[in-house]
Amino acid sequence: MPDSGWKDFHTLESYIAAEEKMHPQSRGLFSHLLRRVGLASKVINSKVLRAGLNDVLGDHGATNVQGESQMKLDVIANDIMKATFRWMPIVIGMASEEEDELISLPRPNTGMPAEDHYIIMFDPLDGSSNIDANVSVGTIFSIHRALSDTEKKETVAAGLPDFLQPGYKQEASGYVIYGSSTMFVYTTGHGVHGFTLDPEIGEYILSHENIRIPNTCKCFSANEGNYNKWDTATKQYADYLRSGKDERYKKTTSRYIGSLVADFHRNLLYGGIFLYPADAKTGKGKLRLLYEGAPLAMLVEQAGGLATTGQKRILDVQPTELHQRVPLIIGNKHEVELYEKMVREHTAN
Ligand code: AHG
Ligand code: MN
Ligand code: MN
Repeated sequence: MPDSGWKDFHTLESYIAAEEKMHPQSRGLFSHLLRRVGLASKVINSKVLRAGLNDVLGDHGATNVQGESQMKLDVIANDIMKATFRWMPIVIGMASEEEDELISLPRPNTGMPAEDHYIIMFDPLDGSSNIDANVSVGTIFSIHRALSDTEKKETVAAGLPDFLQPGYKQEASGYVIYGSSTMFVYTTGHGVHGFTLDPEIGEYILSHENIRIPNTCKCFSANEGNYNKWDTATKQYADYLRSGKDERYKKTTSRYIGSLVADFHRNLLYGGIFLYPADAKTGKGKLRLLYEGAPLAMLVEQAGGLATTGQKRILDVQPTELHQRVPLIIGNKHEVELYEKMVREHTAN
């Protein structure tokens, strides 16, 4: 029979199924949850692609708990994510950047222990202030197991402790970038894998297996308009990288898109460091721990990089509130460790 030249390929679904085989005792429920994230992202993608056409652009008029004006697509993306998981028996809670409070879901008596249920947290549309300018935006998600001591009543409502778990306990995390192409990138702790959406067949095709962040600092990524708000250690760090004194930074270029997912994705593939440091006055960062910092920190560490607040590994931060903000310095291990060293030296003096 002549060879048609047809090449087999992995889809997101087949790859998740292959990963599931690593857990013989798995019932496939977690895989189903991951696949549903993929489905939700395809629906959001269809809305993002048509944003300019459906007059969806522009403010929704409301503001979210962060006091940020909610762009309509934020609200639509949030509704799509909620609708996707609300009915799943193994999802007992959700939290969203766009929701003031956590959403507890009753757990029909599945007969399974609490820790076989999950909570999902998400930034339904990251970088939304860029939508009107057609700049890449994204969705970020984080999945934790419910805590074993979550009440074992008939209908279990996930409590805040289920959400306030440190990032190192995440079961999975990932993002979707709605850019020149739409990509789904995730990890379950077994490497980072990227899938590109083939719009012709509506499937995510494995395009970037086992992503490793290159050990070159190709990009320095920060909102340098905030330079004067940075503390001294951060200013010294930025000055050092940009001075070109160090051979390692001779070819480092400044790139800042203002969409975290887009800036992160570029650095993950090319190598680089992204900083959204604390405001020296408030000591607070802008980015949120639970559905921005922690999921991306899990990904970057799985890809050989690191993520820190400056004082602490992001994945070790014990959350205290749902929408808490952290300074986020994330990217190449070398650059993150250099930042932490400069912060230590500065604190010591
Ligand atoms: P979101 O659109 O989900 O609120 O996130 C916006 C964040 C993040 O995407 C980006 O890195 C950062 O805001 C940009 O902030 P500045 O405009 O202050 O640089
Ligand atoms: Mn965001
Ligand atoms: Mn957002």
